[in-house]
Amino acid sequence: YEVDWDASAAEKGGWDSFMDKEIHEDPAAVQQTLMGRLSEDGEIQLDEVRIDENELKSIDKIVVVACGTASYAGMVAKYAIEHWVRIPVEIELAHEFRYRDPILTPRTLVVAISQSGETMDTLMALRHAREQGSKVLAICNTQGASIARESDAVLYTHAGPEVAVASTKAFVAQITAAYILGLYLAQIKGTVFRDEIRGTLDQLQAMPRKIQWILDTQVDTIAKAAAQLDDAKSFLFLGRHVGYPVALEGALKLKEIAYTFTEGFAAGELKHGPIALVDEGEPVVFIVPPARGRNILHAKVISGIEEVKARGATIIAVAEEGDPDVDRYADFVFWRPECPTLMSPLVDVVPLQLFAMDMANQKGYDVDKPRNLAKSVTVE
Ligand code: AGP
Repeated sequence: YEVDWDASAAEKGGWDSFMDKEIHEDPAAVQQTLMGRLSEDGEIQLDEVRIDENELKSIDKIVVVACGTASYAGMVAKYAIEHWVRIPVEIELAHEFRYRDPILTPRTLVVAISQSGETMDTLMALRHAREQGSKVLAICNTQGASIARESDAVLYTHAGPEVAVASTKAFVAQITAAYILGLYLAQIKGTVFRDEIRGTLDQLQAMPRKIQWILDTQVDTIAKAAAQLDDAKSFLFLGRHVGYPVALEGALKLKEIAYTFTEGFAAGELKHGPIALVDEGEPVVFIVPPARGRNILHAKVISGIEEVKARGATIIAVAEEGDPDVDRYADFVFWRPECPTLMSPLVDVVPLQLFAMDMANQKGYDVDKPRNLAKSVTVE
């Protein structure tokens, strides 16, 4: 869709850019996506998902088709849904999907994730899935969009219109919707105890407040970091587990709007090649998992930080408030409040969105309308 940029100045509601406004709407995007989907007794109600419960019960595989940021939301959801529902979840870039003869059956649920609902690659992938007899559920932010219309069911994200080309609030809303879907399938299939589902829903409902904490306390720190790092030629982004897709998303944001060369990868891959890139002063962003409960992944990420620090890298860490190991090694820390690992992407991505925006502003670029990019890619 086209936006009239002059007329839209007023719609920024006092923010410098749509991106700034939309990042500050992250908490509301999560909250509104949860709204109306939980019954008073803590059950998930998805009347809008018009796929027969018995059919959903028989689903033995989920394939997510999406592009860009939406695909990273799908990658995050894989960790949660496989854990809760105990069925495999594959993530497929929509433009690769139909060209490689994917294995689809009537028991495969294809989940198409799209903010705009008009991404041609994703639309073609879902058409292919339906031709093969699979059911398609869309997670979509735009009422009545092509992807929503052509799917068997739709779970809308209620992030509100997203105008800036770089997707921000839609990402946290997509994760929220995919988590609701996962918990709903767990409820139907009985793979998770009711109490545990309720507990997880409570954790989800606490997330808007935790995101708000970042917006209230970390904005200045992030802006200062961007001011000191804006002449860096490249950035590496590393994370493990759900921190891995967050690293990919952080790298994409910086690439898209600050035109900085970035590479995101799983932190465990470091020693399998990428560490060769690390040189004096190279900025490396780490998504650090929670330390609580002797989390083995925390220790592993910290040892990754030590490795690159020893080679002179500049360390930027997104970490849980008060993490002493991070404080010891990092040159810049963006703190997040305490939360369970599966919930952490909803907070961890926020400083990375702000950081990319600050870097682009610092360089004088138009953060809402980066060069060469369209908000919705309607060609294959
Ligand atoms: C993200 O910042 C993007 N500009 C882009 O990757 C986007 O997420 C992708 O094109 C998918 O768009 P959609 O969600 O509207 O389908």
